[in-house]
Amino acid sequence: MDNRILVVYASSYGTTAEVARTIGDVLSGAGAAVTVAAAAEAPAPDGFDAVVLGSPIYSGDLLPDLNAYVDAHEATLQARPAALFATSMRLRDESEDMRQSVLGTLDRLRILLQPVAIGLFAGALWYDKLPAIARLQVQTKGLPEGDFRDWDAIRAWALEAKGLLGIGG
Ligand SMILES: Cc1cc2nc3c(=O)[nH]c(=O)nc-3n(C[C@H](O)[C@H](O)[C@H](O)COP(=O)(O)O)c2cc1C
Repeated sequence: MDNRILVVYASSYGTTAEVARTIGDVLSGAGAAVTVAAAAEAPAPDGFDAVVLGSPIYSGDLLPDLNAYVDAHEATLQARPAALFATSMRLRDESEDMRQSVLGTLDRLRILLQPVAIGLFAGALWYDKLPAIARLQVQTKGLPEGDFRDWDAIRAWALEAKGLLGIGG
């Protein structure tokens, strides 16, 4: 038992779910036994050797499902190596200031879980998939629509995270 990885994600519109599945595919391809699950229905982490946790950023916070999963399994998660990732439209801007600002959103989980790796990825957004109120919100924030996910960067991060998680396979 030394290479079972649980990838837990939250996602409102499916784009972070696709990132999580891609990370899972890379980890499996590198020899790990991977389970990818939405936070609301994910198994407890105690049957796994390491965890990867990810959420998009909405109005400056992670989605409640991911926070709730961490709260429900805090002690078990703290006893395992963890990697964190976030998606965010603001990360289209690759400046260090923006990365630091988005990193601030992860402070609570960083302190709790002491992750070995943190992935910050630009996300994706389509106005016509949003209810009117959310569309207004993103337009007011000046968030553009489009798919800004950099799959090469996501795959490279997943491979690097696997090494840092200390997982064999
Ligand atoms: C209502 C709403 C609020 C958002 N707020 C933020 C935000 O505060 N900062 C940010 O960088 N991105 C924000 N985004 C963009 C999302 O983080 C991005 O689209 C992400 O890829 C969505 O992931 P999902 O499809 O898995 O839900 C927002 C998107 C929506 C629809």
